[in-house]
Amino acid sequence: MYNKKKIKINGGHKLEGNIYIGGSKNSISTLLPALCLINGEQSSVIENVPNIKDVTTLCCILEEIGFRVERDKDKNIIRLFGKIQRSELSEDYVPKIRASNLFLGAIVSSMGSVKMPFCGGDMLGVRPLDIHFYVLEKFKIKVEIEDGKISCQVTEFPLKGTTIFLRYPSVGATENAIILASKAEGETTIYNAACEPEITDLVIALNKMGANITGAGTSIIKIKGVRELTSLKHEIIPDRLETGTFILAFIVTKGKGIIRNTIPEHNIALISTLKDAGVDLTYSNSDIYIDATNRVFNPINISTLPYPGMPTDMQPMLSVFAILSNGNSIINEGVFQERFAYVSEYQKMGIKVVNSYNQLFITGPQKFQNAIVTGNDIRMVTCLILASLTAKSESFVYGVEHLERGYDNFIEKLKTLGAEIEIVE
Ligand code: EPU
Repeated sequence: MYNKKKIKINGGHKLEGNIYIGGSKNSISTLLPALCLINGEQSSVIENVPNIKDVTTLCCILEEIGFRVERDKDKNIIRLFGKIQRSELSEDYVPKIRASNLFLGAIVSSMGSVKMPFCGGDMLGVRPLDIHFYVLEKFKIKVEIEDGKISCQVTEFPLKGTTIFLRYPSVGATENAIILASKAEGETTIYNAACEPEITDLVIALNKMGANITGAGTSIIKIKGVRELTSLKHEIIPDRLETGTFILAFIVTKGKGIIRNTIPEHNIALISTLKDAGVDLTYSNSDIYIDATNRVFNPINISTLPYPGMPTDMQPMLSVFAILSNGNSIINEGVFQERFAYVSEYQKMGIKVVNSYNQLFITGPQKFQNAIVTGNDIRMVTCLILASLTAKSESFVYGVEHLERGYDNFIEKLKTLGAEIEIVE
């Protein structure tokens, strides 16, 4: 059932050193579909592209619809040539990732129609597309399900700007709305928009291409439609979730280090929570300094929320911190329905926690024992790796295929910090 590869970890080592953060997975995942909006045959260059499998999948989708993609993995650059030529997507790539849902807006805006399978991505409970469909329908796009595929057809072209209130600030639906509005005639206003930094990065990129968008990073985004968008040269923002992962990796191993090439402000929820819990953590410009040697930590009480709240993607890793801390912690998952799948794996590591619906009650400190465990999504795998790094002796973590989807060179980076970790068959 699972990929045979597993991660072997000999825990018990403090991580020490400097780490450089790569480009944001969720930023490039939005930007690549948005490049379908470019008029004419022009070439675009994207820099700071992480070497992750999700990018490979997105490049395959772009090739499927007619683009030529050149990817230089050593220089972290993607060059995109040509223009969109097809509006139908196969089952080959779309179901592998969640971000493929952004091709709904991007293709229909350029071609007037799209037919594609449902997107995939991490299994974090129910992940419906109703808000995306609501957005499409606001632009008078007919959405139908045919043969298990999503089929969208414009009823008036060009699209007309509109007023959209999102019942929930969905990241993907906000991105689809921005993409659709960029070339729609007149003005679009999105109320209760998601405020994630990846949305701001998308808007900065679209504005460089000639779009007229204001309000990104706030919950009201205004878009004045333009007729044409031109090619792009853009550097992706650093990955705030990779940053958060390494912050916690230093802390849970009681290590010490500097995280470089990041934007500390994008991790304020995490940084503030950890400082309040007694972590020695400071930051300046693009660096974060952590010293967790000989420290005892206080418990945490957190709720995951849309940005700038605590990111749901940090929640599994924060549970490792809570387990090692002194006292009673509470973790409330407010974004996804099922994000405590790691709890059953923790049992194998000798950890006792109480999970009730979307809450987790943890009494610490407890010690992780070595075990053989399996992660079913990107952040669950990293959470189990962090837990194993704290355990004395040898653990195995299955789920390499998820890790490779979202983290650039994660194992190698941990090794440079002194972790005893490798991928084995
Ligand atoms: N939702 C609906 N209907 C919709 C869309 C979303 O009910 O039409 C619900 C979801 O079921 C979920 C909540 O709204 O409960 C949040 O979903 P959202 O649409 O905001 O998330 P997303 O766009 O699917 C992105 C990231 C996720 C990250 C979330 C939340 C990408 C490619 N993915 O997903 O990243 O957890 O926002 O911040 O940008 C990850 O990186 O590991 C990851 C899962």
